[in-house]
This record gives sequence, structure tokens and C-alpha cells, in this order.
Amino acid sequence: MPMQRIDTQDELRRMLAAHRELGHSVGLVPTMGALHAGHASLIRRAVEENAVVVVSDFVNPTQFNNPSDLRNYPRTLDQDARLVEMLGATFLFAPSVQEMYPAPDTRVFNLAPLDTVMEGARRPGHFNGVAQIVSKLLELVLPDRAYFGEKDYQQLLIVKQMVRQLGLPSQIVGCPIVREADGLAMSSRNLLLSPECRKAAPSISAALRNALPTLSAQGVDAAKQKIANDINATTALRVEYVEMADPETLAPVHEYAPGHAMAFVAVQAGSVRLIDNWKY
Ligand code: PAF
Repeated sequence: MPMQRIDTQDELRRMLAAHRELGHSVGLVPTMGALHAGHASLIRRAVEENAVVVVSDFVNPTQFNNPSDLRNYPRTLDQDARLVEMLGATFLFAPSVQEMYPAPDTRVFNLAPLDTVMEGARRPGHFNGVAQIVSKLLELVLPDRAYFGEKDYQQLLIVKQMVRQLGLPSQIVGCPIVREADGLAMSSRNLLLSPECRKAAPSISAALRNALPTLSAQGVDAAKQKIANDINATTALRVEYVEMADPETLAPVHEYAPGHAMAFVAVQAGSVRLIDNWKY
């Protein structure tokens, strides 16, 4: 069946109701477009596990705390549609801002304590905006499963918490980070990197990968310092933060216990902000 492109909530609701009457399971892959191999892995998994797959492609304005970031966010809808079709998804849902926000969304979510650290602390309002759009999409699509990448690990935990709070019936499925051959975590923002920054960016994952011996031998603070030093040694990159946190709660980790520590970094690469994480 050819993939269908839909841009209104009403039409998507109608199409999904017909599938549900036939007992079809539904998977949702929420994206902001500019799709890459990381998204492709989510879509492939959704296609494997569900009869019907909706990929949403919507640059959500309420989660951008920086207007120039929103303006410059890459938009490649026609190319996205070809990939989504090739991967076998059923619907590409690409609504307008007016369609998703006919009136301002004033809902405030209680995402504490997960939104008080790292991205939440540095990007005020960001996760509330994510919760607004993801809750709208989950309530619209009512998927059996919704798929999120672990590159945005904090987002994944926050979405899981929100789903529990709202009592939504969907299962939230986290999928591993997909990396370029040189280790750079796939991200739509990689498209915006200058050639110099693109060349430097693999130092981020290299620093994370190489930190384990320091972490085991000298502990958390030494490992964080080494990660920051290794990244900052590349002139095109500037570390914004390095945190070591518990993978379940995101509480800061001070002593290393294998399997219970995850490093999170945000790095400025020219005008582009990159994040990555690594579990030890
Ligand atoms: O991870 C993203 O691309 C976005 O934050 C999401 C989940 C699609 C919500 O806009």
C-alpha cells in the first residue's frame, strides 16, 4: 500500500479509526523531519512491530527557546516523504503550526525532577514544549507503541514520565543511538555543521568512548574532566556541560558503579549545539 501524506488531524483520525476497526496495531514515530539514519532505524522498528505506522514530521515551535534555532532548523519534507515511503510506513503526518496549535497551548506539565537538570536547566521551556506536542500526538494517534531515540535520552525519560502521569495507554519504546561511521551521533542538526565543525565533531563520541579507564581507575570527577578536556582540545568545539547521571533518575552520580552511570554532554560546534551520551 503506498504511503499517504496527511496534513490534518481530522483526516488522520478518520484513517486510523478505519484501521482500528480492522484490529490493526498502530505505531507512531514522532519527528521534526530532516530525517536521517537514526530516524530510519525508529521507522524500521515501528514497521516491524505494528500493522500501521504513522511518522509525524512537524517542527514544533513551542519547544524552541531560541528563535534563530527555530528559524534555521532544517526542513526537507519532500525528501523525508520519499524515505518514509521507502521504509514502508503507512502515513506521513505533516501538519501546519496552525493545525497543531489553533489556539496557544498554555498547558504546563510537571516534569520534575527530570527537567531540572542538563537540557532542562539550560533550555527553559524546552521540555514543556516537547510534552505539549508529544501529548497532542499521542492523544491524536493513540498508538500501541511510540518510538523515541536514545540520543535525546532525557527527552525519552520525560516522555515516559508524562505518559505515566497522563495515564496514556501507549508503550514508549526507546531505540539506541545510530552513529556515523566516524562515531558522530546522527542528528538533524548535523546538516547545519560547517565543514570544519563536521570534521571536529567525532571528537565528542571519541571523548565519551575513551573515558571508561579514567572512570574505573580515578572516578567520576576525573572522567568528567577528561571528557571536557578531550573535547575542548579540538578548537572548533566548546563544551557547555559534562554530567554523569543515573540512567533511570538522572540524579548526579558521584561514585562509579558499572551499568549505573551515564555521561551526558552538550557541545557548541560553531553556531550548532550538539548533544550526546554514553553508558558505562
Ligand atoms: O526528538 C524530536 O525530534 C522532538 O523533540 C519530538 C519528539 C518529535 C517532539 O517535537
